[in-house]
Amino acid sequence: MSFAVAIDGPAASGKGTIARAVAAHFGFLHLDTGLLYRAVGRQMLDGVPALEAAEALTPDRLNDPSLRSAEVAQAASKAAAIPAVRAALVDFQRAFARREGGAVLDGRDIGTVICPDAEAKLFVIAAPEIRAQRRCAELRGKGAEVSEAEVLEDLRVRDERDMTRPDAPLKAARDAVTLDTTDMSIEDAVAQAINLIDRLRAKA
Ligand code: CDP
Ligand code: CDP
Repeated sequence: MSFAVAIDGPAASGKGTIARAVAAHFGFLHLDTGLLYRAVGRQMLDGVPALEAAEALTPDRLNDPSLRSAEVAQAASKAAAIPAVRAALVDFQRAFARREGGAVLDGRDIGTVICPDAEAKLFVIAAPEIRAQRRCAELRGKGAEVSEAEVLEDLRVRDERDMTRPDAPLKAARDAVTLDTTDMSIEDAVAQAINLIDRLRAKA
């Protein structure tokens, strides 16, 4: 049996952390769909046309640690605004969502476009300054020299681009439950997500 959990939200809202923990709790597989766009963005920076990179994308490209940089994130968000690039990545994500045993996907358009019939949908948000603080700490932990102000600006520009693109913009699905993690610990956010999914699983 399949059970799809869609987790969307703006940059650094905590969706990946929640998605990983939820997947581990329920024994589902997890796909961070941002990595697909980051892998395309990474290749764009190396001069490969975005569509060519998307059409030739293979899962081994998703493990590159350099995908986490702010530069790659910006390139990813530019590539993600190209409809043909998004179209090239749809089948892989839909097949993942409907695999046997359950799947958690996090991104921007999972509950709206990739898996509108997902059994559970979460939209994770947090105040921009908090998201910038968290992402800054994360990047510094990986050795990057970044300021909170520049991280905040990176998130602002990406969110704006992601929310205003005509194709699959970032927005909550009508039936998504919004989780505001501004004042929440990771443990609390994960506990709330598990609680919601438990209730929906009992109904499914
Ligand atoms: O996947 P997304 O970009 O939405 O965010 P993330 O990578 O899950 O979270 C960004 C950073 O915030 C990570 O370093 C998390 O550990 C941290 N975080 C947090 O401090 N408190 C939360 N409630 C959620 C995430
Ligand atoms: O971790 P963070 O939230 O900062 O970014 P990400 O989830 O790795 O996504 C990087 C970029 O990929 C986003 O800014 C979006 O432009 C794009 N993306 C998308 O368009 N659709 C998705 N399902 C996932 C990511």
